[in-house]
Amino acid sequence: MPVFFDEEKKIFKLDTAGSSYIFEIYEQGYLVHLYYGAKIPDSNVTSFVDRGFFASECPVNINIDNPRFSPDVSPFEFPGEGSGDFRSSAIAVRNEEGNNVTDMRYVSHKIYPGKPAIEGLPALFVNDESEAQTLEVLVRDSVTGVEAVLFYTVFEKYSAMTRSVKVINPTAKTVRIERIMSCCVDFATHDYDMITLYGKWLKERSLERAPLTHIKQGVASKRGSSSHHHNPFAAIVDHDCNEDYGSAYGFNFVYSGNFVFEAEIDPFAGTRAVMGINPEGFEWTLESGESFSAPEVVMVYSDAGLGKMSRTFHRLYTDNLIRGKWAHIKRPLLINNWEATGMDFTGDKLVTFAERAKELGIDMLVMDDGWFGRRDDDTSSLGDWIVNEEKLGGPLNKFIERINALGIKFGIWFEPEMVSRDSDLYRAHPDWCIHVPRREKSIARMQYVLDFGRKEVRDYIYSLMYGILSANKIDYVKWDFNRYLSEAGSAGLPADRQKETFHRFVLGTYDILNRLTTDFPDILLEGCASGGGRFDPGMLYYSPQIWCSDDTDPIERLSIQFGTSLCYPASAMGAHVSASRRACLETKGNIALWGTFGYELDPNTFTEEDRETVKLQVNEYHKYYDVIHSGDLYRLITPDKNDFRAAWMFVSRNKEAALVTSVVMRTPEDRAFFLKLKGLDPDKYYVEDESGEAYSGALLMNAGLCLNNYGNADGDSFKIYLRAL
Ligand code: DGJ
Repeated sequence: MPVFFDEEKKIFKLDTAGSSYIFEIYEQGYLVHLYYGAKIPDSNVTSFVDRGFFASECPVNINIDNPRFSPDVSPFEFPGEGSGDFRSSAIAVRNEEGNNVTDMRYVSHKIYPGKPAIEGLPALFVNDESEAQTLEVLVRDSVTGVEAVLFYTVFEKYSAMTRSVKVINPTAKTVRIERIMSCCVDFATHDYDMITLYGKWLKERSLERAPLTHIKQGVASKRGSSSHHHNPFAAIVDHDCNEDYGSAYGFNFVYSGNFVFEAEIDPFAGTRAVMGINPEGFEWTLESGESFSAPEVVMVYSDAGLGKMSRTFHRLYTDNLIRGKWAHIKRPLLINNWEATGMDFTGDKLVTFAERAKELGIDMLVMDDGWFGRRDDDTSSLGDWIVNEEKLGGPLNKFIERINALGIKFGIWFEPEMVSRDSDLYRAHPDWCIHVPRREKSIARMQYVLDFGRKEVRDYIYSLMYGILSANKIDYVKWDFNRYLSEAGSAGLPADRQKETFHRFVLGTYDILNRLTTDFPDILLEGCASGGGRFDPGMLYYSPQIWCSDDTDPIERLSIQFGTSLCYPASAMGAHVSASRRACLETKGNIALWGTFGYELDPNTFTEEDRETVKLQVNEYHKYYDVIHSGDLYRLITPDKNDFRAAWMFVSRNKEAALVTSVVMRTPEDRAFFLKLKGLDPDKYYVEDESGEAYSGALLMNAGLCLNNYGNADGDSFKIYLRAL
C-alpha cells in the first residue's frame, strides 16, 4: 500500500518506488512534516520534529507541554497565517472581523484507490485505479470554522505525487481567501540549490541555478499566463547534484496563470518551499457553503540527479497528463506557413505549399494567422472569426477540399482570448475585454484580452469557433495567445471581487479548451503563446503539443529544448525546421527531431538537394518516432555547460534501440572527443545502423563513441541509431 497510516503513532507514510513522504498528526492537531526523500523503511521518525532549542521570543502553543515545540520552527504540512509561523504560509483567509489569522488543524482523513478530478481544472489522471492511491486530510480553523481538504495522490511506480487543496466554507459568514498554496514542503536541511527556468520571448526556459540562502527566493508570474519569463517549474537539488547524481526534488504547477514558487532557509536551518497561485493580485470570496479548488502541484523525487527526475516527469506526463486520441498515436508531420508568408498569402499560394508537401511526404498543412476578417497585418480582426474568402479564393470548405484532394490534412490557427482594437467585436462590445474603469487600457500588438471569466464572452467566441470547426474538415488547431493581461479587472464582477479576474480568466480558458476537446476529440490541438509563453502542464492537459519558441534558429533552439526537457517530454515540444540562416538543413532536422517535428518555410524555395534531404528527414521522422516519443531522454552534453557541443540520446523503454544526436555549436579544440552514452543495457550488444559495427552497451557507456569520425565544423551534427543484437 503506497499510503499507510499508523493509527498508534498517528503517522502518514506515502511511499513510491523510490521515495518516502512522511508526516504526523502532532498534539493539538498540528500536521507536522517529518521526511521527504529517498525511500526508507522506517515510519518512526518523529524525533525529526525536534529542531532544537529556540529563542524565548518564539511563539508557543500554551496547550502543548513541550518546551521544544514552537510553530516558529516546526516543519508543517499546511502552515497558516499569523499564528506563530513567520515563514511563507500555505493559507490566509480573511474573516468577517477583518483579520487573516488562519490556523488549520487535523480533523479526519480518508485513503482510497485512484485519484479524483479537480472540477474545472486540469490535473493528472489515472487510467486505472490501481495506478495511484489518494489521501485526503480534512483540516479546520476552529475559530472561523473554515475547512480545507488536502489531497495527496501517490503514483507509486513513478516516484511522484500530486498535491492540491480545496478550501470549504461551511459557516454562515462570507470569508475571503487571500493566499492559497497547493503544496508546502519543509525540508529538514538547507544544503540545496534551486533550479528554475527563466526566459523571455525567443529565449524561453533557460536554466538558472543558485544556492538557497536565508533570503526568500523564487519565481513567479503575474502576467495572467504562466509566461515566457518564468516557467511554473522549480527543483530543489543537492549542491553536487548533476545529470546523474544527487537528490533532486522537482515541482511543476498544473496551471496556466499567475503562480509563485518560493523557497527560504529558515533561522533553524531548515528549508521551506511552497508553490501555488500567486497571491499578488489574487483574492477569492467564499460565500457560505461554497468551496474553492486550488490547482495541483506535481512533485517528483529523484535519487540520481536531474536526468532521472526529467525521465520521471516525461513518463508521468505521457501516461497520466496528456489526454485523448493523440496521446499515444503518431502525430501528423506538418508544414506551417507562418515564417514563410506571415499574413501575406492567398489560397492559391498555400495550395502550392500542399502540393510540395505531398511530394515530400509531409502529412498536413497548417494555415497560420491571417485567414479571417481583414487581417493582413497584426493591427486588426482578432475576435472577428469570419473567413476571408477573398484571400482564400472561395469558402473555407472549398479551399480545404483542394488541400485534401492532394492527400494533405488541414490545420488552422486561432487566438481565442484576444480582440483587436480594430475589430467589429471590439466596436460592438468594448467592455468585453479585461480592463478597469477610468484607466487607459494598455495595448500590446494592437490587441486586448477578452474577459473569458464572463460566460457570455466565452459563449460568443466559442460559437464562432464551433461554427468553423464543425462546418469544415479541420484536423488540427493551433491555439495562440500573444499578449499578457494588464489593468486586470472585469466589468462582470463587483468591486470587492475584482481580484478574482486573473483566476476566472484562466478557468474560462480551460472551459473553452474543455468544450473544444470534448466536441472535437479528433482534432489535434497545439498550444502556443507568442512562441513558448504558456508552456505548462495545464495547457498540456488539453493540447498534447505546445510550440516551444518563435526562435527557430537551430543552435539557439538547443538551450530552449534542453531547458524545456527538464520536465516536459519530447512529444510535447513543438519544433520545426525553418529557413533560419544558421546551420544546414540536415542539422536543423536533427534538432527539430527532438520534438514534434515539422517545417516552417516555403517548400517552393527548395533546391533539388534540399528536397532529397527533406525526404530523408521525413523517413527518419517515421523511423525514429517511437524511440523519441516513447523512449527515455538522456542529456549527454548540455549546451550551457559546453560551448562546443550539445548531445542527447533517446533509449527505448526496453533498451532495444537508441538514437544519439550531437551538434557542433563552435569548432571544438579537442579533436579526440569521446561521447559516453547512457541508459543502455551494459550486457547487450548494439549494432550501429549505418556502419554495421557492434559494440557492447558497457563499452558505449564507459569508453564512449569517438567523435573524430563525425563532422567537427560549426553547425555540423550527426545521429547514430543503435539496435540491440
Ligand atoms: C505567435 C506564434 O508563436 C507564431 O508561431 C505565429 O502563430 C504568430 N503568433 C501569428 O500571429
